[in-house]
Amino acid sequence: MSAHGSDRAQVTLGALAAKKDAGEPIVMVTAYDYPGAQIVEAAGVDVVLVGDSAAMTVLGYDSTVPVTVDEMLMLTAAVRRGLSTPLLVGDLPFGSYEASDSLAIATAQRFIKEAGCDLVKIERGGTSVDRARALVAAGIPVLGHVGLTPQTAASLGGYRAQGRTADAARAVIDDALALQDAGCSMIVVEAVPSEVTAALMPLMRVPVIGIGAGADADGQVLVFHDLLGLYDGGAAKFVKRYADLRTDAVSGVAAYAAEVRSGEYPATEHGYSMPAAEAAELREMLAGR
Ligand code: KIV
Repeated sequence: MSAHGSDRAQVTLGALAAKKDAGEPIVMVTAYDYPGAQIVEAAGVDVVLVGDSAAMTVLGYDSTVPVTVDEMLMLTAAVRRGLSTPLLVGDLPFGSYEASDSLAIATAQRFIKEAGCDLVKIERGGTSVDRARALVAAGIPVLGHVGLTPQTAASLGGYRAQGRTADAARAVIDDALALQDAGCSMIVVEAVPSEVTAALMPLMRVPVIGIGAGADADGQVLVFHDLLGLYDGGAAKFVKRYADLRTDAVSGVAAYAAEVRSGEYPATEHGYSMPAAEAAELREMLAGR
């Protein structure tokens, strides 16, 4: 039994390493609130990421760039309250870790202390490799993110696949290896040709989670709103929809609106009643007003 009372054993970094060694795929998904966390818990996923994709999926920004540490902490803490067994990864937002090791450590410590994260995620190679090394030295497990890194999509030429030439593929692989050498516990690889992932995998000791990176990674991650069809926006090529909850939700709310307007809702069974004598007394009390 896990520390939170679930029958399923708590997922640990050791358990993920064992899955990698056994060739057993690792399932990771995003979540952004308490009911979402309860859903992914019940579905039995291994790792939950409160991604800064929350900027778009739940906060309505048009990129991940504007979301703040306080906004991410509030969402991440809500997810923590709904989870028992999966590993919880907090996503350090743009501008909250890049400038210095001490900034990265101070921000990451808030995600661990205030939101109960097991790991934090940072994007890119380059200076993020130094930040990852500093975080690991400070005792904070880190998930690195390479390939398409949405926080710096503008400098990558927009939201597009990365590593499509041999040189560009080599750069993605070098970033992943540098993050692994810096002590990252896991790496996400986003939007790269499957050939790049296939070339990377024999070089990686830590689990690699793909998103739009083909089938060779140790696991896959998708955005909750994308896979459930909740998000009313264009989805990336790699998204597979497993449900159409937005359509169901719109028709549910429309049915409620129609019943309120027609008087069909609420019916007697949706209300409360008082003893007849009390109702009579109330009418009498009000009669003289
Ligand atoms: O923010 C996010 O949801 C992510 C995943 C797509 C990996 O970074």
